[in-house]
Amino acid sequence: MNDAFSVNGRIVCVTGASSGIGRFLASAFVQAGARVVGVARRKDQLDSWTVEAGRSSGQAASVVGDLSVPDSVEDIASDVKEKFGDPEILINTAGVNPRASADDLTPEIWRRTLDLNLSTPFFLARCFVPSMQEKKWGRILNIASLQSCRAMANGMAYGASKGGVVQLTRAMAEAWSRDGVTCNALGPGFFPTELTEKVYADGALAKRLAEQTCIGRNGELPDLAGPAIFLASPASDYVTGQVLYVDGGFTAK
Ligand SMILES: NC(=O)c1ccc[n+]([C@@H]2O[C@H](COP(=O)([O-])OP(=O)(O)OC[C@H]3O[C@@H](n4cnc5c(N)ncnc54)[C@H](OP(=O)(O)O)[C@@H]3O)[C@@H](O)[C@H]2O)c1
Repeated sequence: MNDAFSVNGRIVCVTGASSGIGRFLASAFVQAGARVVGVARRKDQLDSWTVEAGRSSGQAASVVGDLSVPDSVEDIASDVKEKFGDPEILINTAGVNPRASADDLTPEIWRRTLDLNLSTPFFLARCFVPSMQEKKWGRILNIASLQSCRAMANGMAYGASKGGVVQLTRAMAEAWSRDGVTCNALGPGFFPTELTEKVYADGALAKRLAEQTCIGRNGELPDLAGPAIFLASPASDYVTGQVLYVDGGFTAK
């Protein structure tokens, strides 16, 4: 049974590994014995992550790149493959929430948000899927959001991108699961990261959000480790095209 949840020795690519959820998940997979390549723009943050994560049983390496530029995605994928070989697990965590009001949202903000949050998860996956298909095994894990199914203030571009991520996840599952490549999404509730600094800076708002959950608190990063390892391991062989909300029951109410 233990092997069912093993990612030991797997080659993993985690985007957004320089901070927050991506950094936490990248470290969790290294701790579980995987070889992990983290991707993001900030080299100093990636370097500190590789040092921190490298003390664990697996291995850590990084690639610096801007995933909001569609023309760069293939080059970044090539750099990732050079580290440990072709990834067997891709975790698409990089994301932004511009929090622009409907009036302030410009075409440029809209385009960058949709490119990074929605387009890149597909185009990056497409770079890695052929070798997963050859091995008859692969995992793609996207990151959805409460805003995949709920409207929130100033969430026009972010909500559109995260709603799209859910349908992209189903479409990827439809296209690739017969070849052993499953695709699912994690839907985090509220977790303390750079992305949610403004939410947590408003104590009353953070409290209201915690009260909206069934469990009665907001998320802590370790809450995401088990669900991510499950969706990335043989334990989830027959699970594909699904969103697993890790939100303390926020969306159940
Ligand atoms: N925190 C939450 O409560 C929550 C809830 C639901 C969903 N999510 C989702 O979880 C994911 C991670 O968010 P987070 O909360 O961990 O936020 P975060 O701490 O701000 O991390 C975002 C990550 O994305 C990377 N990134 C941003 N723009 C990029 C670009 N153009 N190219 C490459 N990498 C880029 C950042 O690295 P660099 O700045 O170094 O490039 C960083 O590593 C996002 O998809 C977010 O929508 C978060």
